[in-house]
Amino acid sequence: MKKRIVIVTGASSGMGQEFVKQLDKCLKTVDEIWLIARRKERLQELQASMEHVQARVLSMDICNDSELNMFESLLQTEQPQVRLLINAAGVGRAGRFDAITRNEIINMIDLNVKALVTVTHMVLPYMARRSNIIQVASASAFMPQKEFAVYAASKSFVLSFSKALRAELKDTRIFVTTVCPGPVDTEFLAISNAGQEQKPLKKLVTGKVEPVVTKALRDAKDGKELSIYGLPMKAVWVASKVLPHNLFL
Ligand SMILES: NC(=O)c1ccc[n+]([C@@H]2O[C@H](COP(=O)([O-])OP(=O)(O)OC[C@H]3O[C@@H](n4cnc5c(N)ncnc54)[C@H](OP(=O)(O)O)[C@@H]3O)[C@@H](O)[C@H]2O)c1
Repeated sequence: MKKRIVIVTGASSGMGQEFVKQLDKCLKTVDEIWLIARRKERLQELQASMEHVQARVLSMDICNDSELNMFESLLQTEQPQVRLLINAAGVGRAGRFDAITRNEIINMIDLNVKALVTVTHMVLPYMARRSNIIQVASASAFMPQKEFAVYAASKSFVLSFSKALRAELKDTRIFVTTVCPGPVDTEFLAISNAGQEQKPLKKLVTGKVEPVVTKALRDAKDGKELSIYGLPMKAVWVASKVLPHNLFL
């Protein structure tokens, strides 16, 4: 019988790690969770902490083509039945476009866009009917964002791509849910602010990782298209639909 698995990218910290912890408590019909990120020790620690579901550590850089090819070969060899794919790996770098480095810019596009699309394309043939894909985008996807231009554009791509994919997959009953959090208290914030103090308004609306992930899992289970945690980000979403985006730039 085929192994029923869950695949989580970005499992070594923040939301990816929290998805795994919460799934470990509630999954009953899955044989294994595949944990993907570069930091092997972090993944091994998480694997060791899991009480209910077996985990497999896949320490890899999903921006690296040859590592991705090895991942695809593993899928071909194992022929698993993927019940849930969570693309949580992502990176942001705030700052004026002309003040951040080319490497930082390309890395955001490579990870947030290219790797997410590639992993989705590689895993899709192994997904069962009535399974789920969770794409972690951001509330930054809702409109262009000054001094976060490339990141916001990369997340708009994720949102647009995921909505269209959801429509394409309707008949297969593979449900795509796009998660659009506002600021969440993870390593992401220190990386994106490059060690600088967070802006006061952002600080005010920064949420904890647990409820964002709990809501995302519930929304995916309910087959929802979007998962937006908390009133402030819901308000941003509504504002992005009814107000000219230039007002916010
Ligand atoms: N925190 C926020 O404020 C916030 C808000 C909205 C949306 N998001 C989005 O939420 C998602 C999760 O972010 P987070 O807050 O949980 O941040 P995080 O704690 O920094 O987690 C990012 C994860 O991505 C992994 N990763 C980075 N580069 C990778 C690569 N080349 N190959 C494989 N894995 C890689 C990291 O693992 P390794 O370093 O071990 O590889 C880590 O597990 C991201 O897509 C982010 O854009 C975050």
